[in-house]
Amino acid sequence: PEPGWTTRADVVVVGSGIAGLTAALRIHAEDHSLKLLVVTKDVLNAGSTQWAQGGIAAALGPEDTPEQHQRDTLVAGAGACDLEAVRALVNEGPDAVHELIALGTQFDHHEGELSLTREGGHHRDRIAHAGGDATGAEIQRALIAAVERAPEIEVIQHALAVDLLLAADGGVAGLTLHVIGEGEVDGVGAVLCRAVVLASGGLGQVFSQTTNPSVSTGDGMALAIRAGAVLRDLEFVQFHPTVMYVGPDSRGQQPLISEAVRGEGAFLVDFEGNRFMQGQHELADLAPRDVVAKAITRRMLETGKPHMWLDARHLGAAFWEKRFPTILATCRSHGVDPVTELIPVAPAQHYASGGVATDLQGRSTVPGLYATGEVACSGVHGANRLASNSLLEGLVFSRRIAAVLPGELRPWQDPVADERPRGLVKAKVMRKVQEVMTARVGVLRDAEGLAAASSRLDHLAGKVAGARAHERGTEAWETTNLLTVSAALTAAAALREETRGSHWREDFPHRDDVEQAGHYDAALRDGAL
Ligand code: SIN
Repeated sequence: PEPGWTTRADVVVVGSGIAGLTAALRIHAEDHSLKLLVVTKDVLNAGSTQWAQGGIAAALGPEDTPEQHQRDTLVAGAGACDLEAVRALVNEGPDAVHELIALGTQFDHHEGELSLTREGGHHRDRIAHAGGDATGAEIQRALIAAVERAPEIEVIQHALAVDLLLAADGGVAGLTLHVIGEGEVDGVGAVLCRAVVLASGGLGQVFSQTTNPSVSTGDGMALAIRAGAVLRDLEFVQFHPTVMYVGPDSRGQQPLISEAVRGEGAFLVDFEGNRFMQGQHELADLAPRDVVAKAITRRMLETGKPHMWLDARHLGAAFWEKRFPTILATCRSHGVDPVTELIPVAPAQHYASGGVATDLQGRSTVPGLYATGEVACSGVHGANRLASNSLLEGLVFSRRIAAVLPGELRPWQDPVADERPRGLVKAKVMRKVQEVMTARVGVLRDAEGLAAASSRLDHLAGKVAGARAHERGTEAWETTNLLTVSAALTAAAALREETRGSHWREDFPHRDDVEQAGHYDAALRDGAL
């Protein structure tokens, strides 16, 4: 559509979680003269950061080192990580966390020291947490307070980033926005700008059950696809093993039971009380999350049950109340008291390890377009993200973007006319997309299911919204974006004919190191890492 209004900013940051707000704060710190605009689809704290429970991983403990954190990250990533990206993450991690502390984030302490716990795939205690199990909420609070202390950073809430405006050289010239509701700016507008930093989070709503909030509809990835950016590793969708099972008809965001609960001693059992993770992996219940999610799924299939159980009764009431107050309240609100009862759990979508391909400075393949956090793929997670590396990734790579962006800003350029064909699909298609993605492109995949999903998605793309305003609201944009990323994800999953990390092909059950592995596998095997 033709923009109804136009404004200008040097840099637009899309998204307001840890990645977006860190990028805005750091770019502002680098160059106060730049006009900075943060746009966010809902309110500032509506994204995934707010929901993060377990914590943020970094080699902060006396016995830990970045090299050990690197090794655990690479092992979880199953030979598909980019080594240099991982090095940046683990080496810069401790400083980045200290910067969060300096900004006012109140992490939990024990006897004067930062309290560190363990999660799946970690061989050391290295997860810093806050409010027991409310780490993301505390980080988000501190970041919002810091942005409020910098009134030069302008914020527009309730604004969906629709599309990039491109200059004649194919690079960024601006961004169109769909501003929802009332206010001074309304409808579709355009921000002419010199750079866009995408920090818009993941795509959890592609699936019927996810731990992600309702805003995670893959908007940034879809926008990048339409702008011609390269995306990578989309097939590596992580399913969190222990999401509370609240019934067969529950859709959308589901309650997460943090891996930190297992880190503190909880364990999985089947309906007969067998501890089925024992003997599956040296870390048993704390194996990397793809291993645990697969074991639970397998046991569910073998027994025909819709979930397994998490036993955390032995942690006791006092410990539950102090260490996991949020999870305790959530379980009780669903009628389960984890102090005396087992918690029903099943895997659900949790994290997109892939996304907009970037280099180590967060540059995408479109000049002037940067990406950071879950929307991005620097290669840091490979085929399976290590627990609690996601908040850290947002922090570290946003700092890296801020270190280079002010020095390489493009000159102002006029957008060229946008000839790309557009078709918004009807909002009611969303549920159908979720159903086919969950049935065919979820934990278990094969060629037949992926081909069926692909043709069903093609069919759904034909359900075009009408011209009337009520058919062209935010939900139609979100549904269109979900469909776009679902088609790309399904194509990527069909191309990868092997089982690796979180990508599980029933028809190609083994990892294909000869054809598909990077050189990091060899380096790992040779002990060079
Ligand atoms: C959790 O608390 O289990 C989630 C942590 C993460 O996704 O890294």
